[in-house]
Amino acid sequence: MLCCIHSFQLRQLKSHGFPVVNSILRAKKNWNPEPVNSAEDKAEGFAYTIELPKRAGISWGSDLSFSWIYVLDLEPDGAAASTGLIQKGDYIIGFGNTSTIAKDFDYVISALNNEGKMLNYTFFRGTKEELLGGPVSEPQDTTVTVTVVQKGKPDIKIQCPGGTNLRRLLVGNGVNVYRSLTRWTNCNGKQRCGTCIVDVMKGNNNCSRRALDEEAVLRENPETYRLSCVTSVYGDVTVEVQSPVQASQWTR
Ligand code: FES
Repeated sequence: MLCCIHSFQLRQLKSHGFPVVNSILRAKKNWNPEPVNSAEDKAEGFAYTIELPKRAGISWGSDLSFSWIYVLDLEPDGAAASTGLIQKGDYIIGFGNTSTIAKDFDYVISALNNEGKMLNYTFFRGTKEELLGGPVSEPQDTTVTVTVVQKGKPDIKIQCPGGTNLRRLLVGNGVNVYRSLTRWTNCNGKQRCGTCIVDVMKGNNNCSRRALDEEAVLRENPETYRLSCVTSVYGDVTVEVQSPVQASQWTR
């Protein structure tokens, strides 16, 4: 089967980041794929790479943790639909040399926006387990502990499902993540004001990655500083709120 890659190759995708994208079948827009209908394909899933414009007429969806981005819908007249290959539900697992396996929504969309006009998308049709070659524990099935450090107050511990949005969790538990007037003038979690900054003192690698636009907003601050409204927690973390920020950071 021309467009099939097997599970051991998929495990390589996971273990090596994403450098093997170019070894996967590359399809051009005018490529005429064989129909996918063998029992083996259905059992294991398969990946395919296709060159498309950045604006390909794809609406993206994600799972409840705002990661695992997939094709939610296709514009009927869009470039993606016109290939006849891409289907709703296919996971985007990479484009160019960027792996998007299990990455969060903001990271994927930001990285996509930074690509050129034409790019190679790699999709996977199958389940997460098939993609990763083994069982996948859904983030929302795990419980994580967020320890909150606030100056002049005792630390508090909050438990939540894995994948929970940090700002929603903190604000929902009465923790003020803002400084001064931004408590009332912030963008309410829409990633427009850049004022919901917290310091993930421990466990930053248990959070979703910093997206490029978040990176830009926080460029003068330590790597552990995060915009809480675009940060999801997947493991235990310790978070300091209202920690000092660079003078150039607009927080008032
Ligand atoms: S609340 Fe405005 S950027 Fe996070």
